[in-house]
Amino acid sequence: MSTHIRRIAVCTGGGDAPGLNAVIRSVVISALNRGWECYGIHDGFNGILFPERYAEGGVYRLNREKVRGIAHLGGTMLGTTNKGNPLQFPMKMRDGTTREVDRSDEILDFFARKEFDALVSIGGDGSLTIANALHRKGLRVVSVPKTIDNDLDKTFTTFGFDSAVAFATECLDRLHSTAESHQRVMVVEVMGRYAGWIALHAGIAGGAHAILIPEIPFEIEQVAAKIRERDSFGRMYSIIVVAEGAEPAHGTRAVLEPAEIGHAERLGGIGERITKVLQQQTGKDARSVVLGHLLRGGSPTSFDRLAAMRFGTAAVRALDEGKSGVMVALAFPNVNYVALEDVAGRMKGVPLDCDTLQTGRDMGICFGD
Ligand code: F6P
Repeated sequence: MSTHIRRIAVCTGGGDAPGLNAVIRSVVISALNRGWECYGIHDGFNGILFPERYAEGGVYRLNREKVRGIAHLGGTMLGTTNKGNPLQFPMKMRDGTTREVDRSDEILDFFARKEFDALVSIGGDGSLTIANALHRKGLRVVSVPKTIDNDLDKTFTTFGFDSAVAFATECLDRLHSTAESHQRVMVVEVMGRYAGWIALHAGIAGGAHAILIPEIPFEIEQVAAKIRERDSFGRMYSIIVVAEGAEPAHGTRAVLEPAEIGHAERLGGIGERITKVLQQQTGKDARSVVLGHLLRGGSPTSFDRLAAMRFGTAAVRALDEGKSGVMVALAFPNVNYVALEDVAGRMKGVPLDCDTLQTGRDMGICFGD
């Protein structure tokens, strides 16, 4: 069923993730192959809200040449922002205060004025909520799930996650030899916000001895006991992976910056915090490493590249079939579509009964509980 689409726009929102360019390329090529025009919006929706900031215009036409040779590149050629939620846009008021203003009507007006028929929105939890709101206001929109954190519901995985896990695993591999040579405890902090997927997958794949995730409040004494136990077997070093959002059973999450208007809270610092405690409790030399934004950079793995292209083309197929208000999802072995209504605002943490967690436990990994 064709719905007479002639012109679509694509944007990327939230933190970047390996695979964004591969999605953009696949959206553009499959749209052009249908005879549609395709336009890119700069920096989330900023290209629409602040057109004066961009020399070539905030929204510009994408052709084959513009997306040539980008599928393997990290980042996003369109730019992105995690401070530009048009539903709650931070605006400076005359009295000097900052307030959240709903600017979503400006986006709808823009689409109507420019005769854009639909939007492909690539992003994580925040972007899904925005896409759902725009859909409810009448915009035709299909979302593509992105995040290294893998915390979006109703899809087996998001693109970006596999690349982040692969890089974190390589880092852990490298840390084993230096930790063993110096008989040290190495604490590795990874991203993931309130979900422990990156820590869990990379920790198991990279041979960590303890993994601390937000879903399991931890007792630091359990980790210290694990380190002492290893020492007693002559294994004089230990690798601890901690998710940035991990929380001690009797304490608080490490927050770098509290949430403010237009921006979520920034997590970080738990690695350094527990390194000091473990050094005190075990008497061993300990060091901490924060992988942070390194996890978001670099080329997407082949898994993420393919997932990105499957998602991008599936988004265009969805529009061609007259769908709107849906997110493309991975439901092995195929992609399918789920209603934005059912995913927006819902987080997918690590289920405590999942077999990956059980795998870690059966391998003797300490989860701090
Ligand atoms: O959601 C992706 C993510 O990388 C989180 O894991 C992390 O907490 C956050 O983004 C960091 O965002 P920022 O770009 O604001 O530092």
